[in-house]
Amino acid sequence: MTDTPRPRRSALYMPASNAKAVDKARTLACDTVILDLEDAVAPEAKEAARAQAVEAVKAGGFGRRELVIRVNGLDTPWGKDDLKAAAEAGPDAVLVPKVNCAADVQAYHSALHAAPAATRLWAMIETGRCLFRLDEIAAASETTRLSGWVMGTNDLAKEMRARQTPGREPFHAALGLAVAAARAYGLSILDGVYNALEDDAGLEAVCEQGVDFGFDGKTLIHPRQVEICNRVFSPSEGEVAWARAVIAAFALPENAGKGAIRVEGRMAELLHLGQAERLVAVAEAIAAT
Ligand code: COA
Ligand code: MG
Repeated sequence: MTDTPRPRRSALYMPASNAKAVDKARTLACDTVILDLEDAVAPEAKEAARAQAVEAVKAGGFGRRELVIRVNGLDTPWGKDDLKAAAEAGPDAVLVPKVNCAADVQAYHSALHAAPAATRLWAMIETGRCLFRLDEIAAASETTRLSGWVMGTNDLAKEMRARQTPGREPFHAALGLAVAAARAYGLSILDGVYNALEDDAGLEAVCEQGVDFGFDGKTLIHPRQVEICNRVFSPSEGEVAWARAVIAAFALPENAGKGAIRVEGRMAELLHLGQAERLVAVAEAIAAT
């Protein structure tokens, strides 16, 4: 049996400088709240945003929602102070941008030395260089706080000079390899954002694609995106029913010791039993929210 997975279907970013948005996040159905100090905050607002993020974490009121601060990089004028402030605030995770290699992960890990033990390190996967070092970056989780990745598809598109097509063809290699590397080391991994704020059908399609790739959830930029994302990233009734049927079939005395059996006209192997157990655990964790 796999350990209980924490639902991370929807992770909503907001500029930490936007007090109204931060307040609204306390009432939204997102699983994760990301208080951003980086891309969404203009240079002149960086210091105020940092103070507001710390204040928001200390004030609490986010209930079951996982709380994350995204800091500026250590190669910027704000990174060091952001990391110090984030470590003191002690959110569930600190998300760091533009990681290129395992040494970068180590540097962020060191910068968080004063953070509570429970504060995890998450990294953005958003540079061309990191795509060729996914294995070593994921392996750094064995000696650091690293426990999650977030795709930064806007930055990746900028670096690659790629177009953000509806099917995201330019990013298929990066998305698939990142999920595979994350899974190889037990990291959670969230998909990138969808910029078209009013295109619900487009959002739904790209959420479906994220599920197809194996992402745990998706990062979002607006409250109206939360409901669609939560729905698509929740196992469907049919999927849960199938999973329960597989679990029940393997539990039958006549199937004891078998590696492959027939369930409702389809083959199920022991590997499918493992998948089914995980899917039911995810569905139960979601139901408990
Ligand atoms: N999180 C929480 N609340 C948000 C929000 C967010 N990401 N985006 C908007 N809201 C709130 C607004 O504060 C407003 O609240 P109100 O009804 O109480 O006044 C309401 O939702 C409607 O906002 P709206 O007018 O539709 O948004 P906008 O046009 O002012 O802003 C964006 C659009 C894109 C600038 C804004 O949604 C945003 O800043 N998104 C996040 C950007 C980000 O963090 N990027 C970094 C990662 S890529
Ligand atoms: Mg970015």
